[in-house]
Amino acid sequence: MTHSAFLEELHTLVDPGKVLTDADSLEAYGKDWTKQFAPAPSAIVFPKTTEQVQAIVRWANTHKVALVPSGGRTGLSAAAVATNGEVVVSFDYMNKTGAVNTVDRTVVCQPGVITKQLQNLAKDHDLYYPVDFASSGSSQIGGNIGTNAGGIKVIRYGMTRNWVAGLKVVTGKGDLLELNKDLIKNATGYDLRQLFIGAEGTLGFVVEATMRLDRAPKNLTAMVLGTPDFDSIMPVLHAFRGKLDLTAFEFFSDKALAKVMARGDVPPPFTTECPFYALLEFEATTEQVSNEALATFEHCVEQGWVIDGVMSQSEQQLANLWKLREYISETISHRTPYKNDISVTVAQVPAFLKEIDAIVSESYPDFEVVWYGHIGDGNLHLNILKPEDLDKEAFFAKCVSVNKAVFETVQKYNGSISAEHGVGLVKRDYLNYSRSEAEIQYMKALKAVFDPNGIMNPGKIFAV
Ligand code: MLT
Ligand code: ZN
Repeated sequence: MTHSAFLEELHTLVDPGKVLTDADSLEAYGKDWTKQFAPAPSAIVFPKTTEQVQAIVRWANTHKVALVPSGGRTGLSAAAVATNGEVVVSFDYMNKTGAVNTVDRTVVCQPGVITKQLQNLAKDHDLYYPVDFASSGSSQIGGNIGTNAGGIKVIRYGMTRNWVAGLKVVTGKGDLLELNKDLIKNATGYDLRQLFIGAEGTLGFVVEATMRLDRAPKNLTAMVLGTPDFDSIMPVLHAFRGKLDLTAFEFFSDKALAKVMARGDVPPPFTTECPFYALLEFEATTEQVSNEALATFEHCVEQGWVIDGVMSQSEQQLANLWKLREYISETISHRTPYKNDISVTVAQVPAFLKEIDAIVSESYPDFEVVWYGHIGDGNLHLNILKPEDLDKEAFFAKCVSVNKAVFETVQKYNGSISAEHGVGLVKRDYLNYSRSEAEIQYMKALKAVFDPNGIMNPGKIFAV
């Protein structure tokens, strides 16, 4: 069968007009937010039902066509990039939510539901979907599940995995599996649901997810604290954790703050300039809690760990303080940053960061380096910015040459080369720094069980 005959057949599996092959669509749907890889899919297909997804997967098996899942395309690891004539399966039209189950605190979502849509739905019922990050306005639940998305509230609520009560998936063989059926307690052998979370679409596609919701947080209050050096951030974390139940503990450097300030649409936290800043959040449920936070702030100042600070007094101030952290990624994106998303256990952060900082200062004396991240979870985002006058290929080649030293350090600390962005194409050649050869072989064997013809997002996580 010719290539065009394959595509003719694909048209018959979905609603009219739901296969696109024009150049603009191939470019737009063939990639995510990463900039290293040129998109080159052969078609984009938009299923509307589970049956249509099954038909596409069966068709792909028959003709040995590779499929790439596509959600909000906000990924940072190129897991949703099609570089090699694949058919992209977009879940844009599977974007409905069911009724909120207020007894079980769950809601059924199709994979194309936008994260913010779920957050707002929960809010309408005085509930809360706590997985949150800057791209929540465009990222989709299916993609969040595929990458086990983390974000800014992990310290309190954990990653996406914690919020998936049940999954319906179409495996690489085209079978429909109902996994866990939303149960809290279920001790009936392997929990296959967990395998599909973070699998980046390499085992099958999520066609429905029951997401858990939590009670709405009360009177969220943020503090931004300026520290004299990086070493002071962890004692600040320990001091506040000892007194309060934190819902977030983030950090960013002066360079990151300067980039956000240059936009001109966010008020500065305070006038004192500091090399590093911590942003923490808690529920100020009583006056006593707020007083405890202020007393801890004063203690940190007395210890010399904090130079200046501010505490939000209104929802507007809370939102403005969060913008200081949440706008960083978008603000630096035009500088084509080379992104590292590394993690170690929290106790090891200070020693680890010192070593990484030494490597980076030595290796990139001429590049701007921007630090930020979810330091309360041990997750650091190290962004190297491309100088305006250097071309993209030369810049990435230079950054890649430093990976070995960075990842060897990650390995030495038993850390992760990808804390929350996923492996995709970007980190795939470095997987061995975080996973043993035996583990990788077991992962490949699992893929062969669910996807014997290797059609599900091939080349992602590991090479084929
Ligand atoms: C963030 O923490 O802002 C996101 O992971 C995105 C990024 O790392 O740029
Ligand atoms: Zn992050």
